[in-house]
This record gives sequence, structure tokens and C-alpha cells, in this order.
Amino acid sequence: MKGLNLALTIIGLTALTALVSCSESHFKEDKIYAGGVYAPAKALNDGKSVYTEYCMPCHGVNGDGKGTSAKGLSVPPRNFLLGQYKFGRVVSGELPHDEDFYKILREGLTGTAMLPWKELSDTQMFNLVQYIKTFAPTKWDGADKKLGDVIVVTKDPYGEAHKESAIQRGKEVFHAVAQCWTCHRAYVSHAEFSEINQKINGKPVTEFDPEMYHVKLQPNDYGYSSMPPEFTYDSVRSAKTVEELYIRLNAGVGGAAMPSWKGVLQDDEIWAVAHYVKSLMDLKNTPERQKLLDAAK
Ligand code: HEC
Ligand code: HEC
Repeated sequence: MKGLNLALTIIGLTALTALVSCSESHFKEDKIYAGGVYAPAKALNDGKSVYTEYCMPCHGVNGDGKGTSAKGLSVPPRNFLLGQYKFGRVVSGELPHDEDFYKILREGLTGTAMLPWKELSDTQMFNLVQYIKTFAPTKWDGADKKLGDVIVVTKDPYGEAHKESAIQRGKEVFHAVAQCWTCHRAYVSHAEFSEINQKINGKPVTEFDPEMYHVKLQPNDYGYSSMPPEFTYDSVRSAKTVEELYIRLNAGVGGAAMPSWKGVLQDDEIWAVAHYVKSLMDLKNTPERQKLLDAAK
């Protein structure tokens, strides 16, 4: 009898210690977030433990992006305290939807330390995302807060059949309508640049920006500077297809210099420039890449 009592006391004590050591940081209350998303306390607690195991090394104990493995990464992990995100399917600056985070978790951000997390279950992803929101309560807490409108993918007016004319039109948009080259760099010769500008803006170019063939580092809201990708070489982080590029161009990159082109360019111009950027991405590791760069310098 005595032995049993002792055993029970030990079990009781162990349980108590476990309770005390965890209770400090455990969530006891459910939360209601922007867009009316309901996060039970249990989901937040479960999310926290998965976060601690998988995400903390980079994103940090406090979510500030300064985990032990973050040192030396050329693209720093997101600082979740800011409540600002780059790759939602919403116009830059608006709050993304849970589904946007799931996509990033499933696919990763190409070319960065943010890898795909294929082993996470749907429940784990839900819990993680709800937990991440606790780092930025002023942005997320409250059912009255709004999420951004999801970018609607219209019908591609070009499609595979008219891909070549899309690329041609996209090249004009890139170099003479939207001036994407001012941050990203130009991909045509001086002569072609002048020709395109003559066609689109009614006058030739005689004086050329000496920096037109260089990508230019841009300050961002995260406290460091982002390099615009050189599409024939660098990774595009959130888009592999023309459709995903269309979404990214409409959305922009949140908190970074890359603006949203929604309402700035016509919808068919956005499709065209998405096809053009994809054609540049397809040159990666091909002999044609060098030919293009030799012509554009
Ligand atoms: C090896 C380091 C590393 C680990 C581990 C890691 N991340 Fe990241 N994460 C990054 C980097 C780097 C970025 C920033 C990429 C960028 O700015 O393009 C990022 C960005 C993000 C973003 C921001 C997306 C946006 O639209 O701005 C989210 C959300 C995110 N990570 C969630 C997670 C979660 C959840 C985990 C754990 C399952 C995790 N990360 C694990 C490195 C990491
Ligand atoms: C004011 C400077 C600026 C202009 C103008 C600009 N961009 Fe960007 N762009 C950036 C920066 C900076 C990034 C990198 C952002 C980051 O990941 O932090 C970027 C990223 C991108 C990406 C990659 C997104 C990803 O998922 O990694 C694409 C595609 C892109 N820009 C296309 C364009 C196109 C097309 C235009 C013109 C219609 C354009 N940009 C105009 C600065 C600019």
C-alpha cells in the first residue's frame, strides 16, 4: 500500500512539475483573428510546439527572425513581430489569407533558406499559422480586422497559342510602359530600347541610363535591402508559372520596393509581362542566356 502511495505521489508531482513548467508560456484563451478566423487555445499551444521544433532555429524564439541559424543567411528569415508579409495572394500591404501561408509552407520560397515543409499535416499548418499571428497581435487580433481581397486570376488573353505575341508585348511593357528595368535591369540593346520607346512613347531614346543593365538594391520595410531578381539567373521565390507570375505582379511583394501593378497596368499588359518574365526565367542555364546578355549591354 505504501509503495502504491509513493508511486502515486511521484506521478502527481511529475504531472504538477510539467504543468508548472509549461503553464507560463501556454495559451489559455481562444483567439479570433482578422477575417473572423477562430483559433482555439489548443491550436495555439500545438502550433507553438511545432514552431519551437521546426521554425524557431531561423525565425527565433520571439519570432523576430533572429534564430541561431539565421546568422549569415543572405535573405534573412521573416521577422514576425512586424506582421508584414511578402508573398500573399493579396495586394502588397494587406493581410494574407491562411491559404497563402499554407502555399508557402508546402512549396517553400525558391532560392532562400525557407524550404518546403512537406511533412506537415493540414492541422499542423493551421496551428502553426495561428501561432505565428500571436507575434503581431496589433495586426491580427479581432474579428473586425479585414484580410486583403484575394487576387482573382482572369483568363489569360494570350494562352499557349499566342505566347510569342505575349512575350513581344511583355517586352514592350517591361521596357517602355512599366519601366521594370529601372530596378531589375534592361534585357534589350540600346537600339531595341530606343525602338520600343519610339513605338510606345512616340520618341526615340538618345541618352541611355549608364545603370540600365544593372539590378539595383532596394531598401525594404524589414530593415535590410532586397535585390530585385535578375530573371535569367536568380530564383523567383514565389512563382514558377505564368499564372503565379500574374498573381505576383498584381500583388507586388509586401513591404518591398516591388509594387503592385493592379490597376496601374491593364490586365492584358500584366499577362503579357508575366509571359515575358517567364521567357526570361526559361533562359536560365541555356546558351541563349549568354546571347541575350551579350546583345543587352
Ligand atoms: C532555415 C531557415 C528557416 C526555417 C527553419 C524556417 N524558415 Fe520561414 N523563412 C526563412 C526565410 C529566409 C524567409 C524569408 C524569405 C524571403 O524574404 O524571401 C522565411 C519566410 C517565412 C514566412 C514569410 C512569408 C511571406 O510571405 O513573407 C513565413 C510565414 C515563414 N517563413 C514560416 C515558417 C514556418 C512556419 C517555419 C517552420 C515550419 C519556417 N518558416 C521555417 C527561413 C526559414
Ligand atoms: C521600384 C523597384 C521595382 C520595380 C519598378 C519593379 N520591381 Fe520587381 N522587384 C523589386 C524588388 C526589390 C524585388 C525583390 C523583392 C524581395 O523579394 O524582397 C522584386 C521582385 C520581383 C519579382 C519576383 C517575385 C518573387 O516571387 O520572388 C518579379 C517576378 C518582379 N519583381 C517583376 C517585376 C516586373 C515585371 C516589373 C515591371 C512591371 C517590376 N518587377 C518592377 C523591385 C522592383
